[in-house]
Amino acid sequence: MVYFSRLPAVLVLLVARHAARDHALRSARWVATLCLVCRSFRRVVTPLLYDLITVDSVTLHRLAATSELPDTPLLFTRALVIASTYFYYNIREKSFASLARALRNITSFTGTTESLSRLARSVDELRLRSAYLADPTFFGEISAIPAIQPVITTLTRLHIVHEIGITQSMSPEALLRSFKVEYLIIDVFEREGKHVDDSDMDISRDNAHWVASAPCLRRVLFRARCVNERTACRVFQHIAEWAERERDARICIDDTFVPNPSDDDYDAEIAQWDNLEWEDAVAGDCLWLQGHQVWRPTPDGLD
Ligand SMILES: *[C@@H]1O[C@H](CO)[C@@H](O)[C@H](O)[C@H]1NC(C)=O
Repeated sequence: MVYFSRLPAVLVLLVARHAARDHALRSARWVATLCLVCRSFRRVVTPLLYDLITVDSVTLHRLAATSELPDTPLLFTRALVIASTYFYYNIREKSFASLARALRNITSFTGTTESLSRLARSVDELRLRSAYLADPTFFGEISAIPAIQPVITTLTRLHIVHEIGITQSMSPEALLRSFKVEYLIIDVFEREGKHVDDSDMDISRDNAHWVASAPCLRRVLFRARCVNERTACRVFQHIAEWAERERDARICIDDTFVPNPSDDDYDAEIAQWDNLEWEDAVAGDCLWLQGHQVWRPTPDGLD
């Protein structure tokens, strides 16, 4: 520490910034103490500390209070995760609006369709680069969709969930009419206790058309969130056939089997889903490049 304090101030700040960047997510409490060292530390560390925040039952009330501070540090937040467990805890409409406004500088969102629609209703100037919709947006209730439509049109990265064995209430095409999305992730979700036919596991049936016509799409990554590994394998076989049939080099899969959280205890299950989503949010830009191509043209073009 003696040697450390003899370093030029600018180097000390660089070290602090590195330490804060490496530890902000997993040891936020320790990083927060760095802000107490001196004003310069505080200036360097605060944006990193607030870069990615998670709204959940534990942080909700503290963040709502923080959002009401003049010069709230939440203006530094770029990535927002709203945990599904958040819905258990009532937050007054007024506190949510204050929180949402303080978070207006975010560029990436992770959470349910309903959370995004509430956010979009509270903040006009939301400019997202990426949205990770954690629930099957296009199945069942679609009342949240008009609110998220203006936000979706600004995105270049989008994550959606396709639930197998259920008919979509609307095609994603309607939402993605002015589709700027370049990187798309589709999680194929099998719900516990639901019987699915083999034909339902062929998700090209519902998606091939709009994926083929998405104007800016560079890469679509499929992952399986299935109860049975056998279902996941069939889903990937169908996707491989689709990629070969269409000779579509944009289609990628990540075939690591991630078992769905067990549904014995509902609270624990939701918490585990929240955790999977949080891990994806932390992966940042790398997330969109995971997995591998299914079909690629041969170098001589004679495929
Ligand atoms: C938030 O965004 C506005 C412009 O939209 C910008 O002027 C301001 O500096 C940003 N705040 C922070 C803390 O990054």
